[in-house]
Amino acid sequence: MSTQPYKKILAIESSCDDTAVAIVEHGRRVLGSVIYSQDSAHSQYGGIVPEAAARLHIQGINGALQQVFDRCDMTIDSIDAFATTLGPGLVGSLLVGANTAKTLSFITDKPFVGVNHLRAHVASNYLESDLEPPFICLLVSGGHTQLILVKGYTDMVLLGQTRDDAVGEAYDKVARLMGLGYPGGPAVDRLSVKGDARSFTLPRARLSDPFDFSFSGLKTAVARAFQKAEELLPADRETEENGSRQVALKELQANMAASFQYTVVETLFKKTVQCAEFYQISTIAVAGGVSANQALRKRFQDFGIQSEGRYHIHLPKAGYCTDNAAMVGACAYFDPLTTDIREEVFSRSAF
Ligand code: KG4
Ligand code: ZN
Repeated sequence: MSTQPYKKILAIESSCDDTAVAIVEHGRRVLGSVIYSQDSAHSQYGGIVPEAAARLHIQGINGALQQVFDRCDMTIDSIDAFATTLGPGLVGSLLVGANTAKTLSFITDKPFVGVNHLRAHVASNYLESDLEPPFICLLVSGGHTQLILVKGYTDMVLLGQTRDDAVGEAYDKVARLMGLGYPGGPAVDRLSVKGDARSFTLPRARLSDPFDFSFSGLKTAVARAFQKAEELLPADRETEENGSRQVALKELQANMAASFQYTVVETLFKKTVQCAEFYQISTIAVAGGVSANQALRKRFQDFGIQSEGRYHIHLPKAGYCTDNAAMVGACAYFDPLTTDIREEVFSRSAF
């Protein structure tokens, strides 16, 4: 259990393209959480534009702070510490949250806490829950795919990770090549419900290390199969025939989304369970943006029920899967990286 004395933590997350602020009590209870998404600004470019992201954080941060204080009906006086993500992430974006938290800490003479973004995703599982280590955590986000043995709140071992694309990145790329827009994960997730997962047989990487992942081959296979199938669609002509091509394209997109999602979910699920069995850990948690995926959540939940108590499945609550500041508050309480206000932001690290 943490020795952090900070009862109420004001937490900021600005590592990528969400400006988020939350107030979290005792690392678990979310008193208020605000997220300003930048999706609409970046979607026209098909991905995140780092400089635009940093500028939008600067525009949004004060409003987000004010909104969270209003929602909680609190003022800065009731905060015990100020936390922020120091990395990994986009440096220009990280600096906005870091400077804001440091300034608030300085002017109130209260502690500053820096956290690691990946560990904050792991800690999202503590929010509004009584989960305690040990557990195996499958961390699946836009930048990372990892299997982590969480031995204690601050004691973690990296057991495996992706050798190329992160799973969220693969979702985004597959969505882009099918013309589904950005961010791709939720679009593929929604569309896959309408498709048939048996339409395309896609490859699963076989790696020497059973707990490592690889998704670039799958992504390339999707690109090839989609292009081939698209060429076979009825020709694009005027009026009615044009309509029939559109219908056929929608069906193809849905079938490809379902086939891709099935392959990804089975790979993630099987490796995670294998890992939990190997290390004899009976609690499995999932974290990161892709933990919002409906098929992945269901696969794990069904397994938990079918195992009749042998395995406990833990998933972050809705709103705490993709980037948010509440998880930063949980991490600052249970697993702080630093309390040194001079600490710098960083773009890369395992955890
Ligand atoms: O954790 P996150 O918000 O940011 C990073 O730390 O990267 O994760 C974002 C990633 C994106 O790649 C996004 O497409 C994916 O999570 N994602 C999803 C879903 N919602 C978000 N992927 C699959 N299904 C979803 N429902
Ligand atoms: Zn994240």
